[in-house]
Amino acid sequence: MSKCRICGGEVREFFDFGRQPISDAFIRPSAIGTEHFYRLVVGFCTSCTMVQQFEEVSRDRMFPTDYPYRSSGSAVMREHFEQIAERYLKTELTGPDPFYVEVGCNDGIMLGVIQAAGVRHMGVDPAEEATAVAAAGGSRVHVGFFEESTAVGIRASEGPAQLIFSANTISHIAYIDSVFAGAGALLDEGGIFVFEDRYLGDIVEHTYFDQIYDEHFYLFSVRSVQAMAQRFGFDLVDVEHLPVHGGAMRYTTARAGERTPTPAVTEWLAKEREQGLADEATYKDFGARIEANCDNLKSLLVRLEAEGHTVAGYGATSKSATVTNYCGIGPELIPFVCDSTAEKQGRVTPGSRIPIRPPAAFSDPYPDYAVLFAWNHAEEIMAKEREFRAAGGKWILYVPDVHIV
Ligand code: TMP
Ligand code: ZN
Repeated sequence: MSKCRICGGEVREFFDFGRQPISDAFIRPSAIGTEHFYRLVVGFCTSCTMVQQFEEVSRDRMFPTDYPYRSSGSAVMREHFEQIAERYLKTELTGPDPFYVEVGCNDGIMLGVIQAAGVRHMGVDPAEEATAVAAAGGSRVHVGFFEESTAVGIRASEGPAQLIFSANTISHIAYIDSVFAGAGALLDEGGIFVFEDRYLGDIVEHTYFDQIYDEHFYLFSVRSVQAMAQRFGFDLVDVEHLPVHGGAMRYTTARAGERTPTPAVTEWLAKEREQGLADEATYKDFGARIEANCDNLKSLLVRLEAEGHTVAGYGATSKSATVTNYCGIGPELIPFVCDSTAEKQGRVTPGSRIPIRPPAAFSDPYPDYAVLFAWNHAEEIMAKEREFRAAGGKWILYVPDVHIV
C-alpha cells in the first residue's frame, strides 16, 4: 500500500514490473553497468481513482540537459500541434498582447507555430539540448522545471498568461500540486491551463502496458483529473479525446467558477464508469493481459531465433524499456533497433542494452521480422518502410495482443 500523491488516500497496487531503468537513458556502450534502476509498481487510489506509481524517480535523472527525445521526429505529431496552435491563435490568444506559456516545449514543435504568428510566448523545459533547437528557431525558452517558483518568476517579468499549454508532460510530474499552484499564480483570470497526456481508458482497453514507464508517473482519466483540478482550485471544463500515441486526452482547466464545463466532461465520466475505470477487477484483468502479452512476445521471439530467422526492432522508444526489461528481451533476441533520432544512434537501449542504429541499417539487409516498438507511429513508419513488406518482411506488434502483420 502507498499514499496517494494527490489526495492522501490509499493506493492499491495492481502491477509490479520489477526493476526498470530510466526509460530515456540511452547510454553509450562504454557506460554499460552504470545504469540507474528503480522499482516500477503501479496502483490506483481507492479514493480519487488516480493511477500512479509507487516510487518516484528524481526529475534530474529522468530529464537531464541531454535528454534525447525530440518531439519533432514525427510528421503526424507536427501536424497535430500545428492544428491545435492554429485553433488557440483564433480563440484564446486574440487579445491586444496575449501571452502563451508552454510546459515541456522540447524542440519547439508547438511553440514554434505560436512564435511564427508573432505571439508573445515562453517555453519551459529542463532539456537544454532539445530547447536549444527551439531557441535556434527563434523561440523564447526558460531552461528549467515548471513549478510554483518558476511560474511566479515568469508572472513577475512577463505578466499573466492567457493560455498555459502542455503536451505529454504534466503526467510526468509527481509534485503536481506545485504545478497547479504555478498555474494559479501565472494564469490570467479567465485563462485556461490545458494539458494532453496518454489516456488511461485507452491503455486499459487496448492493453497498452508499455505506456507505463518512469516518465508516466500518473495515468490520467477524466475522473481523476477532475478530482485533482478541484483539489487545486480549478475546474475541468472540457475534454477531447485525441488519436495520437494510441489514445490521449486533452484536458482544459480554468480557475474554479470561471467557465462552464462542456457536456463532453459528463459524457466521458459516464463512459469511464461503464468501462469500470474505478473498479479493482478492471485492473486485475488488465494485469493478466499484460502477463499474457509478455509471455507470448517472448516465446515468439525465442521460437523465431531457434528457427534461424533474423529479427530487428523499430523505434527506440521509452515504451520499449518496459517491454524489453519486463519480458527479458536483449540483443540475443533482437540484435539491433533502428531509430531516426540522431541523439539515440550509436547508443544502447536502457537496461536491455540493444544497440541503436539509423533507419538506413534496416534495409541492409532487411530482417525477416521487425518488432514495432513505436507502434503509436505505425502508419507513418509502415508507409516509410513500405519496401520492407514488399521484400517479404513482417511486422511484429505486441499490443493490443501479439500479432504479425
Ligand atoms: P515516441 O513513441 O515516444 O514518440 O517515440 C518514437 C520513437 O520512434 C522516436 O525515438 C523516434 C522514432 N521514430 C522513427 O525512428 N521513425 C519514424 O518515422 C518515427 C515517426 C519515429
Ligand atoms: Zn487519491
